[in-house]
Amino acid sequence: MTSAITLAAQARGYSKAAKELEESGQHERARQLYLKAAKLYNDAYASAGDEMDRNTQRDLAEHLFAKAQSLKSSSAKYSSGGLESSNGSDNRDESSLSKDDLILKEIPNIGFPDIGGLEDVKEEIRKAIIYPFTHKELYRMYGQKAGEGILLYGPPGCGKTMMAKAAAKECGAEFISVKTSSIVSKWVGASEKNIKQIFDTARQSERAIIFFDEIDSVAVRRSESEDYAKRVVNEMLAQMDGVDTAGDDLLVLAATNEPWSIDPALRRPGRFSKLVFIPEPDLEARAAIFDIQLKDRPIDDEVDVMALAGMTDSYSGADIASICREAADIPLGEALRGGEIRKIGMQDFATVIEKRKPSITSWYIGARKAIQKTGEEEVFGEIFSG
Ligand SMILES: Nc1ncnc2c1ncn2[C@@H]1O[C@H](COP(=O)(O)OP(=O)(O)O)[C@@H](O)[C@H]1O
Ligand SMILES: [Mg+2]
Repeated sequence: MTSAITLAAQARGYSKAAKELEESGQHERARQLYLKAAKLYNDAYASAGDEMDRNTQRDLAEHLFAKAQSLKSSSAKYSSGGLESSNGSDNRDESSLSKDDLILKEIPNIGFPDIGGLEDVKEEIRKAIIYPFTHKELYRMYGQKAGEGILLYGPPGCGKTMMAKAAAKECGAEFISVKTSSIVSKWVGASEKNIKQIFDTARQSERAIIFFDEIDSVAVRRSESEDYAKRVVNEMLAQMDGVDTAGDDLLVLAATNEPWSIDPALRRPGRFSKLVFIPEPDLEARAAIFDIQLKDRPIDDEVDVMALAGMTDSYSGADIASICREAADIPLGEALRGGEIRKIGMQDFATVIEKRKPSITSWYIGARKAIQKTGEEEVFGEIFSG
C-alpha cells in the first residue's frame, strides 16, 4: 500500500501542475489535475497515521476539490477572457488576495449616527482612533504616542464591525477591511505575503485604517495553532511593530467575539494593546436601534419603540434588525396573498419576539468559562461585571 506521505507528495505534484495549467489558461486540464490532487490528498487523509497532520490533508483535499468545481462553473467565463470571479465561485489564485477579500480605497457609508446607543464607546473610539488622526499635533506636543492597535471585543451582533467602519468614516480614513479567514492560505509563504500586501497597500493611502475582522480565525494562541497560523501571526506582529501612526497615518483595528482565544503576544504594547469592549445594547440603545431599523418602514401609531426595547432585554443589535425584518414580513406576506395592505403593528413584533431567543446570554456563559480557564479575568473585566 502506498504510504500517506507518498500520496501527499504525489498530490502536491498534481496540484502544482494544475496550477501552472490554470495560469496558462488550460482550464479543463487544470480542473482534471486538481481533481486528481484532491483525490490523492483524500487518500492520504484516509490512510494517515501519526506521521502527518490528517486534518491538513483533508483541508487540502476539500480546497482543491472546490477549485476544480469553480473551474468547471466558470469555464464559460474564462473562455471569454474574463477573470472576474463571480459570486460564490472562487476561481482566483488562492495564494494572493483579490478585491473580494480586500475592500480597498473605500470610505464607509456608516457613521456614528447610524449606530444606536453605545455613546460611551463612541467617545472612547473618538479618543483612541479619531483624535489621534485629527489632532496629531496635540498628541505630539504632549508626547503621547498615538495609534496603538485596538481590539474591539464583545458578544456577536452588537456592532463591532459597524463601529470599525464608522470610525473610519468619522476620521475620513480609507477603510481596508480584511476578512481574516481569507488571508489564511495554507500554501507555504502565501499568508505572510498577504499580510505584507495589506500593510503595503495601507501605507500608500493618505490615511487608512486596517481592520482585521474576526481575527480569532487566525490569531489564535500560537501554542495551539497550526504552522500557517503561526506564520500569519508572526508576520502581523512584525508589521505592527513597524507601524508608526504619526508617520504612517495608519491605524490597525481588529474585532473578535472570542478575545480569550487570541494570542496574548498580539496584546502587547505597540500592538493591539488597547481593548475596547462593545457591550450588548442597553434599553436606550435598543430603542435607538429599533428607531434606526424602522425609520423607513410603515409602522402603526400604537408601536412604541420604548416598549419594544423593554421586550428585548439581552437581544443583540443584529437580533433586533432580524426582528424588524421578520415583523415586516407578516403584513407583507398577507398583502402578497391578496390581503389588505396594513402597517406593521405591535402584535407583529410580539409574535416574532416570542419565537426568538436572545443571543447574548449564552455568549456570556461561554465567554466566562473560557476566560476563567485562561486566567485572564482581569484583562477582560467587562465580561464579568454586571
Ligand atoms: N448599535 C447598533 N446600532 C444599529 N444597528 C446595530 C447595532 N448593533 C448591531 N446592529 C445591527 O446588527 C448588525 C450586525 O452588527 P455587526 O457590527 O456586524 O456586529 P458584530 O461585528 O459585533 O458581530 C448590523 O449590520 C446592524 O444591522
Ligand atoms: Mg462582525
